[in-house]
Amino acid sequence: MKLSARVKNVTASLTLAITAKAKKMRQEGIDVIDFGSGEPDFDTPDKIKDAAIKAIHDGLTKYTPASGTDALKKAICDKFQRDNNLSYRPSQIIVSCGAKHSIYNIIQAICDSGDEIIIPAPYWLSYPEMVNLAQGTPVFIDTDEKSGFKISADQLREAITKKTKALILNSPSNPTGSIYSIAELKDIAEEAVKNNILVISDEIYEKIIFNDRKYASMASINKEVFKNTIVVNGVSKSFAMTGWRIGYIASCADEIITAIKNLQSHSTSNPASISQAAALEAMSGNDSSVRDMVREFERRRDYIVRRVNSVNGLSCLKPEGAFYIFCKIEKKGLTGIKLSERLLEEALVAVIPGEPFGSNRHIRLSFATSMDNIHNGMDRIEKWFGAN
Ligand SMILES: Cc1ncc(COP(=O)(O)O)c(C=O)c1O
Repeated sequence: MKLSARVKNVTASLTLAITAKAKKMRQEGIDVIDFGSGEPDFDTPDKIKDAAIKAIHDGLTKYTPASGTDALKKAICDKFQRDNNLSYRPSQIIVSCGAKHSIYNIIQAICDSGDEIIIPAPYWLSYPEMVNLAQGTPVFIDTDEKSGFKISADQLREAITKKTKALILNSPSNPTGSIYSIAELKDIAEEAVKNNILVISDEIYEKIIFNDRKYASMASINKEVFKNTIVVNGVSKSFAMTGWRIGYIASCADEIITAIKNLQSHSTSNPASISQAAALEAMSGNDSSVRDMVREFERRRDYIVRRVNSVNGLSCLKPEGAFYIFCKIEKKGLTGIKLSERLLEEALVAVIPGEPFGSNRHIRLSFATSMDNIHNGMDRIEKWFGAN
């Protein structure tokens, strides 16, 4: 069977092998502690589930408009106004099957063969693959602990060429947890506007931020930036709704919105009608469940950061958002993959290697797991480093 060149170039997930192995070990009764999770370990709040059940009973089980129901788009506009001081019209919103699908659609819509998309590294592992699938070229800007894993406007300027189409910015970031300040966003956005490149702002972790910090959306910097930015967000992380598959984009560029609507209408059509009804409830503005979850994440973050930094062989910055610790491997001769394999086999702890995020000198630990697991898992990691 001759597969398309496009698909052949998509790399298999490096994380898959290690998570599959951890799962197999657990099935065999081996007590593996899992720091790999990419989703909240909290349940979807009851009132959201109830809204979905009601939608089923009310017969909301048919096709909706391909880009989402009017009610949900209106609620998303209200959310942008309330949380981000941004004024979108429902016609400027497209609801898709998760934020991943939203980003995929955007890249398909804007990227031609040879176009360059700038991606700060470390990055969320799907961005480069999505660019490759659109036959574009991912261009990475390396960052490290010194800059808090953030790019500067100068770095952006240097990376821009005639072929540059867009920058993907993810704040709070998976895997580093870093958040750009308003001043940093402004510098980067102005550089993007000056060079006429789009900013795709992935704001999926917007609500998972710590120390009572106030979130600033890239699109809220000023009017020009608003026009130049495509915002991506969704309910997956904030409302513990990863399985429901609802993400959305907002853009005041009519051309882009129309192109994505057309693309979506011929591919997935609408996201599940029942999930849209559930997301409508999530968007109601009552964020008390989110606040409870974030408080617990913050408690775990403080604990795990302290533990990681007391391990002789690992170090990490304190993430400002999301639920991951991106740990630097301070021990010579160990790559992320090698360390992940050894921790799984020898310490019975599953972590994600840094390689798929663009660094072979890091591992990612998720604290979307219980305090007990974090406590016991860190004991095992500490013991392993003590003996190796
Ligand atoms: C940075 C980032 N963007 C987007 C997504 C995709 O979210 P969704 O589950 O809504 O597709 C994820 C999920 O892990 C993520 O970490």
